[in-house]
Amino acid sequence: MSYQNFFDANREGWNKRTEVHKTSAFYNVEGWKKGDEALTAVELREVGDVSGKSLLHLQCHFGQDTLSWARKGATVTGADLSDSAVQYARELAAEMNLPAEFVCCNVYDLRDHLQGQFDIVFTSYGTIGWLPDLKPWAEVVAHFLKPGGFFYIADFHPVLWMMDDDMTHLKYPYHNKEVIVTEQQGTYADRESALEYKEYGWNHSLGEIINSLINVGLRIEFLNEYDFSPYNCFAKTVKGEDGNYRIQGLEGILPMMYSIKAVK
Ligand SMILES: C[S@@+](CC[C@H](N)C(=O)[O-])C[C@H]1O[C@@H](n2cnc3c(N)ncnc32)[C@H](O)[C@@H]1O
Repeated sequence: MSYQNFFDANREGWNKRTEVHKTSAFYNVEGWKKGDEALTAVELREVGDVSGKSLLHLQCHFGQDTLSWARKGATVTGADLSDSAVQYARELAAEMNLPAEFVCCNVYDLRDHLQGQFDIVFTSYGTIGWLPDLKPWAEVVAHFLKPGGFFYIADFHPVLWMMDDDMTHLKYPYHNKEVIVTEQQGTYADRESALEYKEYGWNHSLGEIINSLINVGLRIEFLNEYDFSPYNCFAKTVKGEDGNYRIQGLEGILPMMYSIKAVK
């Protein structure tokens, strides 16, 4: 199968997921419309003040986080592979009267669909796992950054992606060996939903991620690792007193997310 077939299948999966996500308790769109925060404490603290800044959100899904940055004063652009997600993002922006541009395309093709450079390129929670090769991804990141601007990623930790879906044992390689094909039932935002689709993903080690950014000339300002997920989107989670989620029996043992800030 060519990468294009993988991307087409993934787009179909994300279109299906989007329909469920719109009304899921997980995304809490109605609460968000009334002012609930969608961004987590991690990126709010680490990205800092965005007012007056231009921000490009890669793999923005249906734009809830993109529009959350707009609420904080950024001039935002979101890009995503899923046409259903982008359509809903545009609807949400119009309904909430928030200025935003949304582009529908593969992140690898973004240079063919979007002009300009940005103060911040942002991406978070469920991103590069759908990308086979980080070299051209990092080139896109660097291309869209203004000199002096920064890239920020917060995502689930590559060690977490080694675990099987039930979080009982190590199943997948840490390094990017080959495509990982999974038969999905439901979605992380609603495990009981009747969705079924095949998904194609790739694991990326921290070394691969960091080196891809260094190799396009970015300077790493920090790499932080956390033993929690701010989202309850995995099996066997327990909620800690800090409001974050960990895997039962692996609390304090398993790294669950990381964040990187890199400056151009
Ligand atoms: C889990 S969401 C990430 C956004 C955010 N964490 C959220 O939940 O709203 C992953 C997004 O990546 C998008 N995506 C997957 N592969 C992509 C690709 N090759 N190019 C652009 N977007 C892609 C999907 O369509 C989906 O909307």
